[in-house]
Amino acid sequence: ANQHTGVKALMDNGLVTIPGRYIKPPSHRAVKHLIVPGVEIPVIDMAALESDREEFVQTLCMASSEWGIFQVINHGIPVETMQGMVYGVLELFDLPIEEKMKYYTEEVFVPVRYCTSMTPSQETHMEWHDHFQHYFSNREKEHPWPEKPACYRRLASSYVSSVKHLSQTLLSALSEGLGLDSNCLAKSFGDSEMILRSNYYPPCPNPDLALGMNGHTDSGGLTILFEDQVGGLQARKGDLWYDLKPIKNAFIVNIADQLQILSNGKYKSIEHRVLVQPDQTRLSIVAFCNPSRDVVIGPLPEFIDQQNPPLYRSTLYEEHITNVYTKYLDGKHSQKLQIN
Ligand code: SIN
Ligand code: FE2
Repeated sequence: ANQHTGVKALMDNGLVTIPGRYIKPPSHRAVKHLIVPGVEIPVIDMAALESDREEFVQTLCMASSEWGIFQVINHGIPVETMQGMVYGVLELFDLPIEEKMKYYTEEVFVPVRYCTSMTPSQETHMEWHDHFQHYFSNREKEHPWPEKPACYRRLASSYVSSVKHLSQTLLSALSEGLGLDSNCLAKSFGDSEMILRSNYYPPCPNPDLALGMNGHTDSGGLTILFEDQVGGLQARKGDLWYDLKPIKNAFIVNIADQLQILSNGKYKSIEHRVLVQPDQTRLSIVAFCNPSRDVVIGPLPEFIDQQNPPLYRSTLYEEHITNVYTKYLDGKHSQKLQIN
């Protein structure tokens, strides 16, 4: 009874004005004059990895410390793998609502989840998107999959293995950028876990009153995101919000909380949000490359000395995520990183 079937279903049924529960209070809405058009966020050419690794590492390190978000091109993942994944995900969202609702849950750790907004029962105003989320940990050989569509398992498996490889490449370079051995950050993640989350943002009849996703930082390690050409993702620096300009077949990469903690603040976990459109559906496919839940993450000893005290407390990763979902809902994300 307390379940919401999602915003796609609302729009498929011909909704013309948004229900009150999606209307953000004025203080939470996007303010136009604080938005900077999408030209400033770094675009990094990964072809440089072969030609001049040192320069590549430096560029990556700068982007991760100044912005915490950037796009990568020439990343080596075949276009067919990405397009295949998009096809599979669209088929998944196009399933009859009864089929999708088999997976409906608000629990974060359930390995196959369908939900709308974040945790609808706890929100005073909801986000304008539906999503599927699946876990891929290295511990289990067999991951649970949605039963339908039939093509999905093959397409998503191939996508996940490509993106895992890309995340390892980036983590190595990010380690080197901090002056560490290239396997250092990956080692700190333990037996890392990947979560795949696909977000579906249907057109919204009153886009200025709603948000596709509230401002937040990602809780995990590194986020690798593939989006279509619609746009709407914005990242915050100071008081301003910067548009991420869609680049065909690029990935958007952002630093998440655990990398900010490990690097004792050198790499920035940037706040980001999503705006919705009046006439277009947007799709994003997000891979969260996260530490194992049983690993304790704190600033690495290499960055701590008399002049540089630890800025963050060491926390079991599972505890960090649990805190995020129980304490920091409704925009209180800025309290999320626990400063000593
Ligand atoms: C997210 O922050 O998890 C999703 C952002 C997006 O849809 O681009
Ligand atoms: Fe995010």
